[in-house]
Amino acid sequence: MCGIIGYIGHKDILSVLISGLSKLEYRGYDSSGLCVQNSGNLTIIRKCGKIAELSAALSQSSLSGKVGIAHTRWATHGEPSEKNAHPHSDCTKSIALVHNGIIENYHSLKELLEKEGHVIETEVDSEVLVHLIEKFYEGDLEEAVMNALSYTEGTFGIAVMHKDEQRIVAARRGSPLVVGIGENEMFIASDVSAILNHTKRVIYLNDNEIATITNTHCVTKNLGGEILTKKVDEVQWTIDAIEKDGFEHFMLKEIFEQPQSIANTLRGRVVDGKVKLSLNVDVKNVKRIIITACGTSWHSALIGKHFIENLTRIPVEVDYASEFRYRKPIIYPGDIMVAISQSGETADTLAAIKEAKAQGATTLGIVNVVGSTIAREVDGGIYLHAGPEMGVASTKAFTGQLVALLLLALYIKQQKGEKLDNELLEDLQNLPTLVKQTLESSKKIIDLAEDFKDSKDFLYLGRGINFPVALEGALKLKEISYIHAEGYPAAEMKHGPIALVDSHMPVVFIAPHDSTYEKIISNMQEIKARKGKIIAVSDKGAEIQKLADIVFKVPSVRDELSPIINILPLQLLSYYVANVKGLDVDKPRNLAKSVTVE
Ligand code: G6P
Repeated sequence: MCGIIGYIGHKDILSVLISGLSKLEYRGYDSSGLCVQNSGNLTIIRKCGKIAELSAALSQSSLSGKVGIAHTRWATHGEPSEKNAHPHSDCTKSIALVHNGIIENYHSLKELLEKEGHVIETEVDSEVLVHLIEKFYEGDLEEAVMNALSYTEGTFGIAVMHKDEQRIVAARRGSPLVVGIGENEMFIASDVSAILNHTKRVIYLNDNEIATITNTHCVTKNLGGEILTKKVDEVQWTIDAIEKDGFEHFMLKEIFEQPQSIANTLRGRVVDGKVKLSLNVDVKNVKRIIITACGTSWHSALIGKHFIENLTRIPVEVDYASEFRYRKPIIYPGDIMVAISQSGETADTLAAIKEAKAQGATTLGIVNVVGSTIAREVDGGIYLHAGPEMGVASTKAFTGQLVALLLLALYIKQQKGEKLDNELLEDLQNLPTLVKQTLESSKKIIDLAEDFKDSKDFLYLGRGINFPVALEGALKLKEISYIHAEGYPAAEMKHGPIALVDSHMPVVFIAPHDSTYEKIISNMQEIKARKGKIIAVSDKGAEIQKLADIVFKVPSVRDELSPIINILPLQLLSYYVANVKGLDVDKPRNLAKSVTVE
């Protein structure tokens, strides 16, 4: 949700800022812009649309300088336009600011500033903040920013520069920021991917902290002005992990990375028939588990409920984070909340954790991004170690989350003194190989994409542990191909969606040969009778072939592993359909990968 990068140093500033922005583009791509300090002036260039537009506008530019900030925007206040793009500046064009977040008291601040003579040109909340900083500026940018923030309500990750100062001031509340430390150069960024090709040494800012960077120093303080001593972390991700590596899109690369990413989630966690997790939390006496998440991570949560309830008989509730936080949830002593988040930055998930904690729950995180806000907020948890996920549509994080949830369920069972099923542990170890086989055999789905590119609607049906796979399959398709798709429990189809079925409607069945198989076959027959076009994901051959128009054959696996296998052809189906439609798969319209606003 908006990406920020700032740089002070000796390198070619435009290429540092533009390459940083392109790594952050997954956070938003409505517009972008940058500001460079040049001969005591600030030069601001902004463009509507993707970073490529900004880059093209700068291709002939000789703009140079040592201090600069840049931003890629996902619009909240004000339409996506050049005028509303960041950086914003004050009346005297002396200060420039980039902002991620929402200024909630924007209206009252605007009124106050306008009364004092400030001319505010846009509807963007961030613009009032730069005018507020101008109001307090008396020769010290850090002091002015601190003063301005003391009047600011809402969330912010900001980077600010002044035409006369060789430094960048950055501050955060609710929107992530990280300082990168190089040799005679410093960076500020929304996440490490933007600076990874320059440095791996970083300082993560916490909420209500401010960092002032020069090319050689970084001073961090709390917003009250006290100096803080912060730890310098070493990032483990490699640069290769954030490149496409010969694939046309990050999404395709990430789909085919799943054998490796799942192996990484499993590494060192199943040893000698035992599950080893360093949870930092006692799960032996847990009475109830609440899992909370958003988007794809919420679909993982629904499958996690099956894992935990089936293996441990501990009741599990699953809540959308945005619903949980606003509905006076009931928390009992002994409850554990598990928050699932790829980015570790989703605003609603973070707020749900805080709410649960405030009411006395212990919290666990299942998070991909190491050092992210959610990872640091929870009492303990499991990292996915799936590597950076750059495609906006989540794929490898989803399967990693399922593996982590299964490990959690097994671990709770083990801590309760119950014996684990060795065969399940062996199958889990063998999962990366099966995932590889499934992906290889699913490549031929590419040949079918053309047939579906003009479909208007899709229905995805599944039962039990595979019902959330139907939800996730439908979400993948609508996110990137803009085809309307609904996921439904197969039996519920008769209570509404069947009215939509005709010969133009593809219906995807997730039909593993498990205890629900016979019922699914009946549901297929009901669709066939209405001339719907049936696509089946199944480990069963002949019988399904008779009913379905197309079968995506997958290997037979035990129930617990079937969602991880069954989602693979559906990820590829959505990818190939979107690609054949010529859409920007990695940057679907209106979406952002990291949703740091409510
Ligand atoms: C956005 C992304 C989704 C993601 C969801 C939750 O909507 O586009 O892919 O599933 O946020 O994100 P999280 O990082 O918390 O898993």
